[in-house]
Amino acid sequence: SIPTPINQQLYNYEVGSVQRKLLKEACEKLRNSTIDIPCIVGGKEIRTGDIQKQLICSDHNKVLATFHQANTQVLQEAIDNSLEAKLKWETLPFEARASVFLKTAELLNTKYRYEVMAATMLGQGKTVWQAEIDSTAESIDFLRFNPKYAEEIYSQQPPANSPGVWNRVEYRPLEGYVVAISPFNFTAIGANLPSSPALMGNVVLWKPASTAVLSNYIVFKAFREAGLPDGVIQFLPGSGRVIGDFLLDNKNFAGLHFTGSTGVFNGIYKRTADNLVKGLYRGYPRIVGETGGKDFHFLHNSGDVELFVNSTLRASFEYQGQKCSACSRAYVPQSLWPEIKEKLVSGVKQMKMGQSDDFSTFMSAVIDKNSFNNISSYIEHAKTSPDAEIIVGGKCDNSVGWFVEPTIIHCKDPHYKSMEEEIFGPVLSIYVYEDAKFEEALELCDTTSPYALTGSIFSTCKYAINTASHKLRNAAGNFYINDKCTGAVVGQQPFGGARASGTNDKAGSYLNLLRWVSARTIKENW
Ligand code: SER
Repeated sequence: SIPTPINQQLYNYEVGSVQRKLLKEACEKLRNSTIDIPCIVGGKEIRTGDIQKQLICSDHNKVLATFHQANTQVLQEAIDNSLEAKLKWETLPFEARASVFLKTAELLNTKYRYEVMAATMLGQGKTVWQAEIDSTAESIDFLRFNPKYAEEIYSQQPPANSPGVWNRVEYRPLEGYVVAISPFNFTAIGANLPSSPALMGNVVLWKPASTAVLSNYIVFKAFREAGLPDGVIQFLPGSGRVIGDFLLDNKNFAGLHFTGSTGVFNGIYKRTADNLVKGLYRGYPRIVGETGGKDFHFLHNSGDVELFVNSTLRASFEYQGQKCSACSRAYVPQSLWPEIKEKLVSGVKQMKMGQSDDFSTFMSAVIDKNSFNNISSYIEHAKTSPDAEIIVGGKCDNSVGWFVEPTIIHCKDPHYKSMEEEIFGPVLSIYVYEDAKFEEALELCDTTSPYALTGSIFSTCKYAINTASHKLRNAAGNFYINDKCTGAVVGQQPFGGARASGTNDKAGSYLNLLRWVSARTIKENW
């Protein structure tokens, strides 16, 4: 049976350590090269010549990688090749499939550790610590825990048989192919989205985010080196619209594993529904998506101020607020506001911004120009709005990289736009409520945004915690009590939200893997 996993231990990269030296060398090597990335179909590298660039986001004159975008001819070849590969892949014993991903985990922990981290740091703007918890630790955890969950699923069988009868359930892969569309903000999500359906016997067409293409390509190389047969996962960088539309409009489309924006996911949902109504598909595709968030920290006046401040600074500004789970709004009681305000402002002023491969950086640049422009537009709006006051930060500078200062907006109106809309950047909006109106403030927290991904209550009062937990029961798929709302650990806190945040199919748990099988019940008379 699959070994019971434990979470990957984190390295600390302290001054003088071997790890630090190796990582610095890997960063240097990537800074001084431009890697050319093909599409990979059936194990074959295809260079379409339709080239896009991945830039270093904190130093955007530097091209980290070029990649060849998949066109419709490549996509058709990928579909045909996958369907052929499926015939063999799904007949392999589960242990053979699982071993590929368990071995990938080992390769990411050893041979590819520094390369994938350096690509995540430079390409996606992660600091050393953020890259460590993502591209190595979380990726490895997904690849070790998923086989264990899968094994448990396969072992679930009907508990009763009548005399002369043997009942059993067979967990078949889906009939067709699965499309995986992964985001820029976690290399680990890139590792998880294609591998979990493949683990359950499916073939997967994977479109990685253009702004994370290098780190995802390294993960793909590790899959192959670990023994993934050609054609089981196809690597298809390129335009989301071209790839998504082509792969959805095919009768063999059987499922989607998606992480990205709510808007794009809604478009996909609609397109698949239209195709379904037209009779294009054989069955109902499994649509699994994790989308936007407007995650919150809620402080009750019994809460620990230091804990709240430190947790909020980390959850809002680590990785420039670009985690789906990042705290982007907070509710603070009037009686504690002066103290909280002073501590938050002083904390923000100590944050060091800089290049992502400078090991002393706390925050680096945001991912790209579109993101920079979008975040800046919220900050500019707040500068002139009577409903908002920027209490710290507010500067944006795109001269070298796409840098946005950590910014806190005190919102006078609880429905001011930055309290409601997802910004996906280092901007925290705070509403100060009257202490006596705790329950009304919880109501506001529940109803202000359409999202429901993560949220936290900070309080030492059991009644307040209980009230918040109940009133906010649908406001967050991951709910934390006296902890920050980021940093879910695979195997410990299954991750995902409902409402406009997605289908809540909990990455890093058996619930997610169940979506990639279609059970057949077999009754055999003896
Ligand atoms: N697992 C990450 C977190 O909780 C988000 O994907 O921060």
